[in-house]
Amino acid sequence: MIQEAQKRVEKSLNHAVFHAIRDICNEMNCPAFVIGGFVRDLYLNRPSKDIDVVVVGSGIELAERVAKKLGGLRLTVFKNFGTAMLRYRDLEVEFVGARKESYQRNSRKPIVEDGTLEDDQNRRDFTINALALSLNKSDYGTLVDPFNGMEDMENGIIRTPLEPGVTFSDDPLRMMRAIRFATQLNFRIEEKTFEGIKAQRDRIDIVSGERIADELNKIVMADRPSIGFKLLELTGLLEIIFPEFQAMKGVDKVDGRAHKDNFYHTLEVLDRIVPNTDNLWLRWSAILHDIAKPRTKRYDKKLGWTFHNHNFIGQKMIPKIFGRMKLPLNEKMKYVQKMVGLHMRPIVLSEDVVTDSAVRRLLFEAGDDIDDLMTLCEADITSKNEAKVKRYMRNFRVVRQKLKEIEEKDHIRNFQPPVTGEVIMETFGLEPCKEIGDLKSIIKEAILDGKIGNNFDEAFALLLKEAEAMGLKRVK
Ligand code: CTP
Repeated sequence: MIQEAQKRVEKSLNHAVFHAIRDICNEMNCPAFVIGGFVRDLYLNRPSKDIDVVVVGSGIELAERVAKKLGGLRLTVFKNFGTAMLRYRDLEVEFVGARKESYQRNSRKPIVEDGTLEDDQNRRDFTINALALSLNKSDYGTLVDPFNGMEDMENGIIRTPLEPGVTFSDDPLRMMRAIRFATQLNFRIEEKTFEGIKAQRDRIDIVSGERIADELNKIVMADRPSIGFKLLELTGLLEIIFPEFQAMKGVDKVDGRAHKDNFYHTLEVLDRIVPNTDNLWLRWSAILHDIAKPRTKRYDKKLGWTFHNHNFIGQKMIPKIFGRMKLPLNEKMKYVQKMVGLHMRPIVLSEDVVTDSAVRRLLFEAGDDIDDLMTLCEADITSKNEAKVKRYMRNFRVVRQKLKEIEEKDHIRNFQPPVTGEVIMETFGLEPCKEIGDLKSIIKEAILDGKIGNNFDEAFALLLKEAEAMGLKRVK
């Protein structure tokens, strides 16, 4: 594996952009290194197009000269940060001078001074993110690894280069990053680093909601997001950033009867939905589908544990959760609300005789999101009882088949009333009034119940009949 990785490194450093940096650094007599995530991902064989170059000297000057050498490339300079960025073919290269940097307590504004490569590596978040490859003529391609990051990489370990307390107080978001990398790479967080997160967890409060949401979304998009949420819970971060999820953990027992632990159930649903969707918001729907269970939990002597209306109450809880966590409050949130609100329907439907009218109603409410809803519901079956799982899955197949048949026949998915309000007004010479809404609703209900077809002629005939009963006179 090491040999293969070495070959990848050599191949990658053969790129014209690195050669240009090497030649110019030689002229400028200032050492430069490729560092951070790009190096880590090279060894892990996770191709990356984002390159960070650190130079012991001026990052901007080096970038300007490299851009010129590569044929007058356009450069984006961030004077305030002392960095510059250029795009070359499919790569994005960022140049920065080596820095000694420390953050002040309770502020995100760092005090920055020029430093050596070692200073720069010291202020990075994890040993595996502090690896640097030399771009200098004398030792081109040599790995500079002062914290044994390679060893941690091979052993699958996330560890801070300095005392965890120092590294995390420089930027408390790193606590989330540790968990995110552990999740994405399936690595273990080293003991002291883990204890460091536990000790500093309250400092997450000074980090902006947007940055936290970015990390959280990366955890959600990983192959096994449950790893991240379990770590968030174990470190005590979950309680701070997502208390509603924390509240799902644990079981109550009355008269010897316990309900399932909804935290672990939810994580199972989330992991189960991963192979079937890359849609971040469907994954969020899995996270939130039972979010109101703690709030709706009751014990009934006859029924045992119940969670009445947890789907509707969950739907209502979402705007507050999304608002606080800086997740979007637009149609994406509405989609998650819809999924959470409807997530019980296919199960209820499949437990009973699957009638056409129930299927039509579900199609009407879910619209184009019906397939996503079915995917969520299938992931929701986490019972250990195999016979039960088989029965549900069989029933869901029946529901899916019925959905297909009814959609082909009745086109309910994107329901548009076959008789519009305008037609009703013209036919009976009406100004806008309540009766129009009533008539439209009677027609819609008749279609959903299968009493009439979803077409103009049958809808218009019903309209005439119902309007007459209301005492309306046809004028056209
Ligand atoms: N870094 C850090 N502390 C942070 C963020 C970044 O020390 N809070 C350093 C790490 O050395 C990291 C590098 O900056 O490798 C680049 O950061 P970034 O582009 O955010 O992350 P990557 O490590 O490249 O990973 P990803 O692209 O998956 O976010």
